[in-house]
Amino acid sequence: MASTTLLFLLLSAFCVAAAAQQRGSNISRGSSLTPTSNSFWLSPNRLYAFGFYKQRDGYYLGIFVDGIPQKTVVWTANRDDSPVPSTAALHFTSEGRLRLQTQGQQKEIANSASASSASMLNSGNFVLYNSDGDIVWQSFDLPTDTLLPGQRLSAGKELICSMSETNPSTGLFRLKMQNDGNLVQYPVETPDTATYAYYASGTDGKGDNVTLNLDDEGHLYLLNTNGSNIKNITDGGYNKNLYRLRIDPDGIFRLYSHDLGQNGSWSILWSSSANKCAPKGLCGLNAFCVLLDDRPVCNCLPEFNFVVASNWSSGCIRNFEEDICKSKDGSTKYTMSTLDNTWWEDASYSTLSLPTQEDCEQACLEDCNCEAALFEDGSCKKQRLPLRFGRRSLSNSNILFVKVGSTEVSRQGSKKELRTDILVISISLASFALIILAISGVLIHRKNLWAYKKISETGNVGLTEGVALRSFTYMELEKVTNGFKEEIGKGASGTVYKGAISNGQRIVAVKKLEKVFAEGQREFQNELKVIGRTHHRNLVRLLGYCLDGPNRLLVYEYMSNGSLADLLFTAGKQPCWIERMGIALNVARGILYLHEECETQIIHCDIKPQNILMDEYRCAKISDFGLAKLLMHDQTNTFTGIRGTRGYVAPEWHRKLPVTVKADVYSYGIVLLETICCRKNVDWSLPEEEAILEEWVYHCFEAGELGKLVGDEEVDKRQLERMVKVGLWCILDEPSLRPSMKKVLLMLEGTVDIPVPPSPVSFLSAI
Ligand SMILES: *[C@@H]1O[C@H](CO)[C@@H](O)[C@H](O)[C@H]1NC(C)=O
Ligand SMILES: *[C@@H]1O[C@H](CO)[C@@H](O)[C@H](O)[C@H]1NC(C)=O
Ligand SMILES: *[C@@H]1O[C@H](CO)[C@@H](O)[C@H](O)[C@H]1NC(C)=O
Ligand SMILES: *[C@@H]1O[C@H](CO)[C@@H](O)[C@H](O)[C@H]1NC(C)=O
Ligand SMILES: *[C@@H]1O[C@H](CO)[C@@H](O)[C@H](O)[C@H]1NC(C)=O
Ligand SMILES: *[C@@H]1O[C@H](CO)[C@@H](O)[C@H](O)[C@H]1NC(C)=O
Repeated sequence: MASTTLLFLLLSAFCVAAAAQQRGSNISRGSSLTPTSNSFWLSPNRLYAFGFYKQRDGYYLGIFVDGIPQKTVVWTANRDDSPVPSTAALHFTSEGRLRLQTQGQQKEIANSASASSASMLNSGNFVLYNSDGDIVWQSFDLPTDTLLPGQRLSAGKELICSMSETNPSTGLFRLKMQNDGNLVQYPVETPDTATYAYYASGTDGKGDNVTLNLDDEGHLYLLNTNGSNIKNITDGGYNKNLYRLRIDPDGIFRLYSHDLGQNGSWSILWSSSANKCAPKGLCGLNAFCVLLDDRPVCNCLPEFNFVVASNWSSGCIRNFEEDICKSKDGSTKYTMSTLDNTWWEDASYSTLSLPTQEDCEQACLEDCNCEAALFEDGSCKKQRLPLRFGRRSLSNSNILFVKVGSTEVSRQGSKKELRTDILVISISLASFALIILAISGVLIHRKNLWAYKKISETGNVGLTEGVALRSFTYMELEKVTNGFKEEIGKGASGTVYKGAISNGQRIVAVKKLEKVFAEGQREFQNELKVIGRTHHRNLVRLLGYCLDGPNRLLVYEYMSNGSLADLLFTAGKQPCWIERMGIALNVARGILYLHEECETQIIHCDIKPQNILMDEYRCAKISDFGLAKLLMHDQTNTFTGIRGTRGYVAPEWHRKLPVTVKADVYSYGIVLLETICCRKNVDWSLPEEEAILEEWVYHCFEAGELGKLVGDEEVDKRQLERMVKVGLWCILDEPSLRPSMKKVLLMLEGTVDIPVPPSPVSFLSAI
């Protein structure tokens, strides 16, 4: 009570004429403001002003504390719009609407029915009244980043910080009063789940109408639905004149106070966190936060660089070339780099109990799926990149190991003798015969040169130095598969059986090829050479083959977790969003390798969920690559036997246009959309408008209703939008408009911006 009186006295001293205040408080229809003259309306106590304030080469419309030397903005209208020029004007029109006019354009500030009068109240609330004197709109209902005394943050609402002190647009963090009663801080555009939270009041379960309140004495507290105080966040009673609560651009919310009488500035009474590195996402992916003199600074993982040097949020990428994980003698091409005292989000795919950090380091080094490992108290958590939410503090005993390219890595294959091998960069259906001619030419040429040795059917094919494929006889494979007993898959190219080699030690998948074009041993072996030379974490390894009379079989490593099709299309098996993101990235990496990184470019021609297999760690690997040429025979004769599966096939196949790597990009786009939505690309059991996935996705995208695509699943909205946009770019009819796989990967990772995809012109042309 005493402090209220004091406040009143101080304010009275501060203000001049009581009569003028009242008049100033009633704004009638027909009034207007401009940035340069008559730029704001004052509250009766002359403390708060509603009007234009200057920022970033222009003006914003908002509410600010005017009665102190340091003007402080507490609310901004249309914060994400660009600032307006000095020629703009705000009109409280004769129809009672509040309109911001800029060069012929009008923007409604308060989406309310028409108002009779408006008032800037002493509390800092700007209100519109109807003719009965009832409030029809108030700025207190639409907080931006600040809460003032008397203002209430109700359940379901949030405060979002500004981009910076000089830019009021939506920033990186939010403070949400959740419907479950908990007051929580998250990065923006993340789901409301604990993974992302970095502050919580711990009041969940206290009812669905808990509100955050601030009173005139700096008391910040939570009330439940029947008005009982359930938690005091600050004690209050500080005896200052002015308070405000703000979620600052750095992600921490603070209670500020100000003494009107002195020429002071705002001082901090309370902060949600003492650690400025606490807000998750302050540093982007693969970066971690360190405090230097109480200032947060972002650093990259060792051997990583910022994508945009001046922008921490952009995250970091490797500054070394990703290489095959193991070399021919089994030794690894990577080393481990150590980062002490850092904490990271635990997104491990496997946790091992290991006694020492050296064991953990070694375990990661030996596992091709492992890109980093966190060691703490005997537990070794293997992770894949990217790492998130990193921060360093000396009180943290975790150790992070990151796999980095060893400097000794030199690109293998510089001594390639087989460089002139079938190097088919773009396959055209029309010019197929020509290519075959060229291939034969090369083969004949080579035969003459090297007196090409007839390879015995029991010997190994020395495909390149170090990459030996084992050759099996048909009888051997019959034994390996126990008489082709267990069929584990069937596709256009053949049937797959389960088997075991090395005395039953190693489970393999044996594929019996049907309708093989490459009748000749040499053609067949040449294709195998190409396939055998591929090494990538996201490709299924070919281990051996059989070339016995008319029989053509391939022996692959066995993938214990089935295909992506099983996962996506089987109710109950569907992977969570984060895992689906990982799968999409891994498949893209595999295709990128085939297109750009392996010695001979390979166009897969049959990317589909059935050809994407999951290993024991559920890491996605592409299978059946390199078979396109072996099975191409059909394509020259008839279009019914097109290699590629209905729905995943790029339109150019049907139009007899040249088929390039962009055909794979198209198929990838369809797989990506299926992965996002966990459904098949054509499903007539759904309502008609949803049946064709591409159409449905584009419809939802255009309508801004992407949430419909994932049902009630909580997903990162920004990621979802990114994935959908990439998918839509990939499935464009015109191949040259589709992005390359390199670009796809950069876009998926969020490294480059994704323009709004154009409408896919003719959806059904491909079917
Ligand atoms: C505001 O002024 C108008 C006329 O100027 C008057 O009719 C109205 O009653 C006033 N409202 C208040 C709340 O004083
Ligand atoms: C407040 O509401 C809860 C239900 O939400 C009820 O159980 C409790 O008795 C109420 N308390 C008071 C003081 O009315
Ligand atoms: C929600 O809680 C506030 C404060 O406790 C109360 O004033 C308001 O009436 C409640 N609203 C509903 C819909 O229960
Ligand atoms: C919060 O503080 C007030 C005094 O300001 C006290 O009366 C009340 O019991 C406190 N509530 C809780 C939940 O601690
Ligand atoms: C505050 O500063 C202004 C000028 O900057 C000066 O005129 C005024 O006397 C100062 N008031 C106090 C209380 O220091
Ligand atoms: C920084 O990078 C992030 C993520 O790439 C981007 O959203 C943001 O706009 C960038 N900020 C600036 C100031 O460029």
